Amino acid sequence: MSKAPLLRVSGLEKSFGGVRAVRQVSFEVGRGEIVGLIGPNGAGKTTLVNLITGVVRPDGGRILFDGADVTTQRPFQAARRGLARTFQIVQPFPQMTVLENVAAGALFAGKATSRREAERVAAEQIAFVGLQPFADAPAVSLTLPNRKRLEFAKSLAMGPRLLMLDEVNAGLNSAELDNALDLIRRIAARGITIILIEHLMKVVLGLSTRIMVLHHGELIRAGAPRDVIADPRVVEAYLGQKFAKRYGRLADA
Ligand SMILES: Nc1ncnc2c1ncn2[C@@H]1O[C@H](COP(=O)(O)OP(=O)(O)OP(=O)(O)O)[C@@H](O)[C@H]1O
Ligand SMILES: [Mg+2]
Repeated sequence: MSKAPLLRVSGLEKSFGGVRAVRQVSFEVGRGEIVGLIGPNGAGKTTLVNLITGVVRPDGGRILFDGADVTTQRPFQAARRGLARTFQIVQPFPQMTVLENVAAGALFAGKATSRREAERVAAEQIAFVGLQPFADAPAVSLTLPNRKRLEFAKSLAMGPRLLMLDEVNAGLNSAELDNALDLIRRIAARGITIILIEHLMKVVLGLSTRIMVLHHGELIRAGAPRDVIADPRVVEAYLGQKFAKRYGRLADA
């Protein structure tokens, strides 16, 4: 296995009309890392994921995945290379069953060439996320936490090497959140590298090996969790003073 970083982004730039959503962003993600990506609403986090997965094309800069230049790839090519993501707004095919939804992920990423094979891959991932009892239920009938599990199963069926989780825990209660944390840890234990976009600092600090902070499209800080949350610029841009006192202790624990 190569020692080069799994993902290397340099000078990435994207504007929508007059809004510079992503400004000269450069960073690397090593194999096996769980990188927390935080920042205020509108900071450019989802746009960054859209750029990395070929959903949106950059105005400038370069994206290397496992050494290959993927800057201008299309979404299906990203999926085939092992770049998977969840969507901030969960959007399953509502009338299809859970199994069919997950199987569609496997087919999209080229992890199966027949429907039967795709359903086998899907069944494995459905079991992994704990959705077996609902495998044959229409996606539309699932509760919110189970829709989130479906989203996990779908992206896992794509056989990802890098998985980007875009606010996948929003709206969960405390017990559901603990289950989600456990699931993310089990995904990481499979050797899948993770970029975790998350507003809940309990989750970010509980999982991340490193944290990156976006603010107005700019990467203003990246580093070890305890250093990042103690940085006055990060406190001012995102966390707030009160938070810094409370979580400063948590990060030291
Ligand atoms: N397709 C688009 N067309 C026009 N503007 C866009 C588009 N996508 C994003 N933007 C704008 O780019 C900026 C960054 O948005 P983005 O969704 O990446 O932020 P975010 O950090 O994911 O925010 P949130 O925490 O609310 O999800 C915002 O000003 C947003 O309105
Ligand atoms: Mg977003």
